[in-house]
Amino acid sequence: MPVQRTLSIIKPDAVGKNVVGDIIRRFEENGLSVIGTRLTHLSAAEAGRFYAVHEGRPFYNDLCAFMSSGPVLAMVLEGQNAVVLNRQLMGATNPKEAEAGTIRADHADSIDANAVHGSDSEENAAIEISFFFAALDLHSRG
Ligand code: CMP
Repeated sequence: MPVQRTLSIIKPDAVGKNVVGDIIRRFEENGLSVIGTRLTHLSAAEAGRFYAVHEGRPFYNDLCAFMSSGPVLAMVLEGQNAVVLNRQLMGATNPKEAEAGTIRADHADSIDANAVHGSDSEENAAIEISFFFAALDLHSRG
């Protein structure tokens, strides 16, 4: 399996609940390494740029408002099959559909306050990583 990088964001709801450590533990215990972190508080405009792909969808404005409602922890995860593995650990976007034991099943309250974001492809991971990080911010273990 290829070693990949992917972007994870711990969203304002999960940062506010103080479950950052529990979420990172799940990544590390499943073979992913944190190679860059950034705790930041996005403006609504910045959240809008990050989620530009969703512009025009009915949930876009609520998504931007929620993502700018408090601090988020953006992280780059590295490991074998990191994109798919991260999404498996996250669970379905809607926590009502998330498999038991996933991050969203355990920590998400709604489809908006759904604890974490993860890149959906290696191509989008590269774009999303460059939104938050410069190459010099990332420190690969490999
Ligand atoms: P995320 O993985 O961060 O990507 C976009 C976010 O939009 C998603 O998680 C949800 O929090 C939010 N969202 C709200 N409604 C929907 C919807 N109907 N479909 C997809 N995403 C939604």
